[in-house]
Amino acid sequence: MPPVDLRSDTVTQPTPAMREAMAAAPLGDDVLEGDPTVRELEAKVAALLGKDEALFVPSGTMANLLALRSQTQPGDEMICDHECHIVYYETGGYAAVAGLSVRYTRGERGLFTADDFEPLVRMWDDPHFPTPRLVAIENTHNRGGGIPWPVDQLAQVADRAHKRGLGVHIDGARLWNACPAVGCEPSEYATHADTVSVCFSKGLGCPVGSALVGDAPTIKRARHLRKMLGGSMRQAGGLAAAAIYALDHHRDRMTEDHARAQKLCDLIAGAPGISVDRERVQTNMVYFSVDESLGTAADFCERVKGDVLMLDEGPQSVRAVVHLHIDDEAIERAGAAICRGTSADC
Ligand SMILES: Cc1ncc(COP(=O)(O)O)c(C=O)c1O
Repeated sequence: MPPVDLRSDTVTQPTPAMREAMAAAPLGDDVLEGDPTVRELEAKVAALLGKDEALFVPSGTMANLLALRSQTQPGDEMICDHECHIVYYETGGYAAVAGLSVRYTRGERGLFTADDFEPLVRMWDDPHFPTPRLVAIENTHNRGGGIPWPVDQLAQVADRAHKRGLGVHIDGARLWNACPAVGCEPSEYATHADTVSVCFSKGLGCPVGSALVGDAPTIKRARHLRKMLGGSMRQAGGLAAAAIYALDHHRDRMTEDHARAQKLCDLIAGAPGISVDRERVQTNMVYFSVDESLGTAADFCERVKGDVLMLDEGPQSVRAVVHLHIDDEAIERAGAAICRGTSADC
């Protein structure tokens, strides 16, 4: 039996029904007259998030980069959490392509408050400083543990940012997980931001694709930049059809992933040498620490990889992510394998 793959929610394969939807999609050249299925997806996503327009792009990384580049000038400054995906995992595009410098918040598990970030906004009129231009918020916060932002807290940060003349971008790669976790609609978050990126290739289970939403002038700039960066796709309707299918059929099942993440915690919580910070498990991610008696996190992942695949995310920190292909039986198997990895039979 292949190992249970909990490395990421990006490992999913399209389901048979999703493949049928992809095969049946009407197509066109999205750089010339436009692809009808891409247009349908863009309209659907814009409506879901309550924004003027959406732009379909190949990846979450590109959606974030276009958000930064279309709202800032090289030399401007962005304020964000020190472990946010944009800075930690996106190959320095914020600096190399958008030309931004950053100031970091160091809040709780990736979340920060209006009072945390406001002192980081430098004075606009001092010639020593770059111009503060954008606040980036990650929701759910990946390295924080898949933490969803309370809507009020996000609204306060955004409100303070706007009052100080800064724009607000939400990296909502897993906004679909955040919404059911806090009990809100995507538009209730998006209304506070100028741009939001969302991914279809994570919890929703699509093979490829993300979108950036915002007002019409910003998305027009982003569309132009997408072409410059080589992200304009031609007959992309098959990929858009997967995303339409996933929004219609997979969005409501995020809570199943969240429940299975809790189940995994239950299964491994008693294993010797393993500690799970339950407060940190709020959506589809389970971060747990391994005691040095079990070796490093990398050693532990290596030891159990015949039965369960996970990623080491720090010297003693392991990440397991629940997704579309993980059913109850897979969770039981993963939990048992992790326990066996500690030599316990729990
Ligand atoms: C929070 C967050 N933002 C952005 C991305 C980037 O998405 P992609 O891998 O599609 O570039 C990821 C990827 O895992 C992510 O976790």
